[in-house]
Amino acid sequence: MDRRLFESMDNFFTNYVIGFYSDDEEINFNLKLKEEHTKRVCSNIISIGKDLGLDESDRALANTIALFHDIGRFEQFTKYRTFSDVRSENHSELGIKVLNETHILNKLTNYERDVVIMSIRNHNALSLPEMEDLKALTFARLIRDADKLDILGILSDFYQNPQNYEHLKVGESAKIYGVSGNVLESIMNFQNIKYSDVKSSDDMKLLRLSWIYDINYKYTLVKVREKGYLEAIINSMPKTDEILKVYELLKGYIAQKTAGE
Ligand SMILES: [Fe+2]
Repeated sequence: MDRRLFESMDNFFTNYVIGFYSDDEEINFNLKLKEEHTKRVCSNIISIGKDLGLDESDRALANTIALFHDIGRFEQFTKYRTFSDVRSENHSELGIKVLNETHILNKLTNYERDVVIMSIRNHNALSLPEMEDLKALTFARLIRDADKLDILGILSDFYQNPQNYEHLKVGESAKIYGVSGNVLESIMNFQNIKYSDVKSSDDMKLLRLSWIYDINYKYTLVKVREKGYLEAIINSMPKTDEILKVYELLKGYIAQKTAGE
């Protein structure tokens, strides 16, 4: 894919987003967060893609996926005033609808367009479906890593400095403490945690930490390790024996997967 084509889509994105800003400060504030998240996810996907040795054309395609992965968020927040898919609608599908209606992907080849749509559709799925096309799989994995890396960073800051986020609708409203049995069992067995198992804010933190098992590329895990996201989230939780066990397990997992880096 041509890098200039990416630039034209980047311009489209900027103009598309501007259209949602209004005199409503709450909307503007939340839209700005998603705009900034998108920029960081673009930068993450380029870094991971370079580390994997993707050529310029594939990096431009990866960048396109990152640019549009959350495009549904703007209509979602404006319409429903929430980023919760459960309380509104799936923001990936909403984004795909926007991309189709605006025909912005029309200059891509059919294959590239399919890869962009498939990667966006699966960026927030619990896990990726079986895929025979290994190239397509790489892009689907890339966006999941780039997105998780940024969200883990946002959450680390949020859990450490909640006072800075009081005005935010972050969808982390569960107030009950304590860890549920099946949540603990999943994370101790190297499994992802399902949203439906989450009963407390501590469960939600463990769900976020269980994403570490779902990270695809060593480069991403090295960044998680270097930035201390595991420690930041663990430190915001009670120092019980079970939390400390989770910490040791995840620390060991990251160390083993990033050995030599
Ligand atoms: Fe998303």
